[in-house]
Amino acid sequence: MTHPPRSIEAIRARLASVGQEHLLRFWDQLTPDRQSNLVSELERIDTSGLPRLIERYVHAKPEFALPERLSPAPYYPLDVNSTRKPWDRQQFRSLGEQALRRGKVACFTVAGGQGTRLGFNGPKGCFPAGAVTGKSLFAIFAEGIAGAERRYGQPVPWYIMTSPLNHDDTVEYFQRSYHFGLDPANIMFFPQGVMPSFDMTTGRILLAEPWQPATNPDGHGGSFKALWVSGAVADMKRRGIEHLSYFQVDNPMVRVIDPVFIGLHVGAADSSAEMSSKMLPKASPAEKVGVFCVGNGRTMIIEYSDLPSTLAEQRLDDGSLRFNAGSPAIHMVGVSFIEKLNSDPAFELPFHRAEKKVSFIDDSGDRVNPEKPNAVKLERFVFDALPFCKASIVMETSRDDEFAPIKNASGDDSAQSSARLQTRRAAAWFEQVGVRVPRRSDGEPDCTLEISPLTAWGPEDLRGLDLPSVIEPGAKLAI
Ligand code: UTP
Repeated sequence: MTHPPRSIEAIRARLASVGQEHLLRFWDQLTPDRQSNLVSELERIDTSGLPRLIERYVHAKPEFALPERLSPAPYYPLDVNSTRKPWDRQQFRSLGEQALRRGKVACFTVAGGQGTRLGFNGPKGCFPAGAVTGKSLFAIFAEGIAGAERRYGQPVPWYIMTSPLNHDDTVEYFQRSYHFGLDPANIMFFPQGVMPSFDMTTGRILLAEPWQPATNPDGHGGSFKALWVSGAVADMKRRGIEHLSYFQVDNPMVRVIDPVFIGLHVGAADSSAEMSSKMLPKASPAEKVGVFCVGNGRTMIIEYSDLPSTLAEQRLDDGSLRFNAGSPAIHMVGVSFIEKLNSDPAFELPFHRAEKKVSFIDDSGDRVNPEKPNAVKLERFVFDALPFCKASIVMETSRDDEFAPIKNASGDDSAQSSARLQTRRAAAWFEQVGVRVPRRSDGEPDCTLEISPLTAWGPEDLRGLDLPSVIEPGAKLAI
């Protein structure tokens, strides 16, 4: 299809008015198909908002304003008898189970990230993560969902947010994998929005190809809009889903369905059932995780880079960190909360600015692969929705139990460290039911272990299974 000169001139004028006419620099050299591609990409960019955005986030670096009244967020501790906040785990487990038996809960995975640190060729959810089996992250989550459906006798629909960059590959992967035995009618994929990537010095949108502006997914916080515009929320309402169990694509140990957490979210006196969070105690003051705080009366997460070290390092009398509630990015989100946010046409989460290396086509048509960050990417973060809640609760989870993220190709938070953590947790569960696990002199298990969430959600589910009484040193065992 060719474009009438008038319409392309109108686009050119619109771009010129905001200093972005270079995006059409190669127009005359493009095939009609590529021209058409470029036009549809350009039509998606909200040019009217660009000058303000560039001024605010590219030419300037917005300063984070720490709330004046800032204190650590209270949380439901792992130790239910703790004097900090005693609570009845069983009561909330029952409440959560009720919601599950009534089919009120769905899973929601944000899987639209680019996974640049991991450097895996394909959507991150396809990455082999099982310590022994090498099952993919998606396969492990699917087993957790199948386990919940079996326990509670109700479908647990699964909403998966992709990005335009990995959507087709993700859907194809599920099709190739027969949806891991789940009913495809209960899985919905939808792409999130994108933002243009800007040249750091000029504020010009970079060209990824002569016919394509460089874009990046608009952050996991883009999910609040994407859930709405994709029709996912309408689908939830049709099915009677009231709450979403939100988790990231990179943590194979996450409890995709946690009845206790669901119960607290829906039933705790101090919960609005809008958005709730899990926390884990920070490993060190410098650990790079957001921290739960209460600022001006609202629960919020402050990014590690925004929490002054004087606060990050403060300790209580018992030696623990005062601001110790780190975020593993696990939430419950009420469907009506998503509706509430979207029913305000002015609703927007703030952008966060990141400086990244983005390869681009320069003005002479040559590709440039920069060696240092040359671009500004803008992303929204899901936790910025917390202050929009009337009230929001936080529940402690155990690092050993639920946190083994795969972010990097090696070292910390890699497949290797995740496999070690999966093994450590499985070893602890096996030992609790009397299986002897070989241990090295440093106490680490001398074997590799993997327990599928279809088999067990905790040591209690291992009782009565046909297990070996002893695991041999160096063994690899998956159940
Ligand atoms: P990360 O912050 O780890 O980003 O995402 P990433 O893009 O996956 O990885 P890097 O930083 O490029 O190495 C945390 C979670 O949020 C999702 C990711 O898929 C992951 O589950 N996410 C992130 C999105 O869904 N969309 C985004 O735009 C960004």
